[in-house]
Amino acid sequence: MDKLVTHFMGMELKNPLIAASAGTTKDALHCKRAQDAGFSAVILKSIQEEMVNRYNPFPRMSVIRSGVPGYQSTTFMTYEQAFEGDIEDYCSEIKRAKDLLDIPVIASLNCAGEDTWAWYAGKCEEAGADGIEVVPSCPVGAFVREAVEFYPVAGNALREVRKAVGIPVGLKMTQQMSNPIVCAMDLERDGADWLTMFNRSSGLQIDIETMEPVMHKGFCGHGGPWVMQSVMRWIAACYPHISCPISATGGVTNYEDVVRYLLAGAGNVQIATLVYLKGYDSIRAILEQLEAYMERQGVAALEDIVGVAAKKVLPLEKADRSKRYYADVDYEKCVGCKKCYPVCIYDAIDGGSEKPVIRQEKCDGCGLCAQVCNRAITMRVR
Ligand SMILES: Cc1cc2nc3c(=O)[nH]c(=O)nc-3n(C[C@H](O)[C@H](O)[C@H](O)COP(=O)(O)O)c2cc1C
Repeated sequence: MDKLVTHFMGMELKNPLIAASAGTTKDALHCKRAQDAGFSAVILKSIQEEMVNRYNPFPRMSVIRSGVPGYQSTTFMTYEQAFEGDIEDYCSEIKRAKDLLDIPVIASLNCAGEDTWAWYAGKCEEAGADGIEVVPSCPVGAFVREAVEFYPVAGNALREVRKAVGIPVGLKMTQQMSNPIVCAMDLERDGADWLTMFNRSSGLQIDIETMEPVMHKGFCGHGGPWVMQSVMRWIAACYPHISCPISATGGVTNYEDVVRYLLAGAGNVQIATLVYLKGYDSIRAILEQLEAYMERQGVAALEDIVGVAAKKVLPLEKADRSKRYYADVDYEKCVGCKKCYPVCIYDAIDGGSEKPVIRQEKCDGCGLCAQVCNRAITMRVR
């Protein structure tokens, strides 16, 4: 799988898949399972300075399905907190992981005070961590509980850790802020060796029978495949403005998602939820299919595709507005399923007959009917 080699933190990774910080990397043994499944690096579950965050409430995990058929999403809503021990326990896990694994082991740090980051980071370095991911972005952490802006907290944390250690330091951003591009540029200036985009967002789900929040009745981390488009959007937007590598994370379920993140500008991809819901072995299939994709596309090295799509994002004024379209039905292919009827807000589909009749003068050319049909309707230029 040499084609999948990528470079990160001054090291060669055998592939771009990194086990993201989560319960799935909660100790050295879980990290070993991640390595055995094929991950090329692991980020240990975060240690948090705040004691309250070291003890998990119950229940703390829920797979929430919302929507109606054809318009649905799944979110993995969790309130899983930090590594459950203190910094000495954490350092023991780093050492055990370094003994057990032959891939890079990255520590993940979330402190509460302004001046404690350096001390915690120094301990992780001493224990042998290959790098440190600074995580002021925890979706149940202080930055969402209190009225504070993300960057001042994140910038301070990064600078403190940067000064304290000689190993590579990255920062895991949140996307719950006004402008991730400016923040990414500031963080690179503060010394980030990489930026992880993004931590899970802070969310809320309400039970309408009890009229209360679900699970532990508080704000939760949430994410799912639906998050990818916004993560990709920000990665592609940040990519031209920063030169440190971007580590993408959020919603990956298959090799296509990995490829999309790379094309958007990420140098590697972190995965957690898929492992929770489908097991560590789901990673093997992604790696095999990734290699097959490269073969098919004739891509010699994975790093050749990083940012390719980001460079093709058009500015608003360059979008093609020169042609008008209308929907056209091929009645030989139409099976009369009527899926197209409700999606036309322009009243351009006459639903009075067995098969749709397009009122061309009303058709706006939006293309939604052709999308839901995917068989008999094509869009034609007027
Ligand atoms: C249950 C759970 C616990 C997590 N715990 C942490 C954590 O301790 N530190 C951290 O930086 N990210 C944590 N994450 C976020 C993941 O590292 C990952 O960035 C995020 O879930 C997006 O990737 P995914 O969609 O593949 O899960 C956690 C995610 C989940 C689902």
